[in-house]
Amino acid sequence: NNHKSDSRGALIVLEGLDRSGKTLQSRKLISYLEGLSYSVESWRFPDRNTGVGQMISSYLANKSELDDHAIHLLFSANRWEKRSLMENKLRSGTTLIVDRYSFSGVAFSSAKGLDIEWCKAPEMGLLAPDLVLYLDIPPEKAAERGGYGGERYEQLEFQRKVARSYQILHDASWKTIDACLPIEDVEKQLQEVVLDCVTTCQKGKPLSQLWS
Ligand code: TMP
Repeated sequence: NNHKSDSRGALIVLEGLDRSGKTLQSRKLISYLEGLSYSVESWRFPDRNTGVGQMISSYLANKSELDDHAIHLLFSANRWEKRSLMENKLRSGTTLIVDRYSFSGVAFSSAKGLDIEWCKAPEMGLLAPDLVLYLDIPPEKAAERGGYGGERYEQLEFQRKVARSYQILHDASWKTIDACLPIEDVEKQLQEVVLDCVTTCQKGKPLSQLWS
């Protein structure tokens, strides 16, 4: 790879309800890009491997209780603690496929009734994704998919509220994919937009910050 100095990897985020297929599709995107010889890494938030991540994990497993604001800020801190590594990876030419990001943070917390502007504030200054892929699925359909794992938010009534929050956050820059389509069709649609995004970033599209 013959990079110009401003050439970089792309920050690509997958969002959607629990059981919308994000994890499977991010795995498929990784092998697709690797097959084309791109440098690419799979990331996910929450990153449960850090100290903050372990607090989040215990909260999600219902093993601890936290104030809604406090857990919101922990999710955000979990992204902040990875920010500089993220920027280094991107600048060194590695594309990151990220399973959930700030939009999950805002969608899930505002679904509990927290003010949306308050939810967005701690995300300000994190790197803005080059592409947000929204895997769109009705909450009822997601619930039918082999059942939820039993973590804190995996309940139909709450997922309905999260879907509404995502609709508010959604803007024209997001690419929405019908996640009810067969897996291969979703995969094909994702590949097309992702390749386009990776190419644009390789040509030196500047990095920007949330919320822009
Ligand atoms: P996961 O199942 O993708 O690991 O995500 C765990 C749960 O955490 C999922 O229900 C979504 C929720 N979540 C938030 O509430 N805020 C966040 O900032 C993130 C990244 C996830």
